[in-house]
Amino acid sequence: MRSKPLNILILLGSPREDGNSSRLAFAFADAASRNGHRVQSVRLSALEIAPCDGCRRCWPKASQPCVVRDDMDSVYPLLRAADVLVFATPLHFYTWSAPVKLLTDRLVCLGPDQPRHLKGKRSVLLAAGADDRPAAFAGLRATYRLVAEYMGWKRLGELCVGSLEAEDDVSRAPRALARADALGARLA
Ligand SMILES: Cc1cc2nc3c(=O)[nH]c(=O)nc-3n(C[C@H](O)[C@H](O)[C@H](O)COP(=O)(O)O)c2cc1C
Repeated sequence: MRSKPLNILILLGSPREDGNSSRLAFAFADAASRNGHRVQSVRLSALEIAPCDGCRRCWPKASQPCVVRDDMDSVYPLLRAADVLVFATPLHFYTWSAPVKLLTDRLVCLGPDQPRHLKGKRSVLLAAGADDRPAAFAGLRATYRLVAEYMGWKRLGELCVGSLEAEDDVSRAPRALARADALGARLA
């Protein structure tokens, strides 16, 4: 148990409610909770998140990061309150899923040069894909690393698990779940 509990925000990128990336995230979350951290999950595919339209009118009011009114209104405060951002995503066409892409595009207004930013947060990548080749995750890893670098996040870990196709395949991959657990348990 650490002295100061961390706020952990898990961004679930799969449309499958109980799919492989979500189960990796739940294993991570259970381990973090056991150590006294506060964990909150958001299923991105259940939200209405419009694409960033590049208007560059960020922060129209001191209290409002974005001019677009949609479910990001409720996600922005969670992002800002979090100490650790966990991206849990299926591998979709060699990168993260469309809901994660919609969310990350909407981080323009919290970018490093904005009046309020997300610099200094920590981040984690958890991913599931069908391909058994580690190289299949190269694009996803590169995207995640570049986003984290741009946003000023410290990367705590990446877990990309291949050979997972059907919704419950990860339940037959105890080593992958154990690695997700270990990542969550390592938070301090
Ligand atoms: C639209 C779509 C695109 C996909 N693209 C890839 C891919 O590029 N590479 C891969 O290995 N698997 C791909 N898959 C398979 C999923 O990554 C795999 O089934 C994964 O376990 C799903 O994770 P989830 O259960 O968390 O949704 C794709 C699946 C879908 C539905």
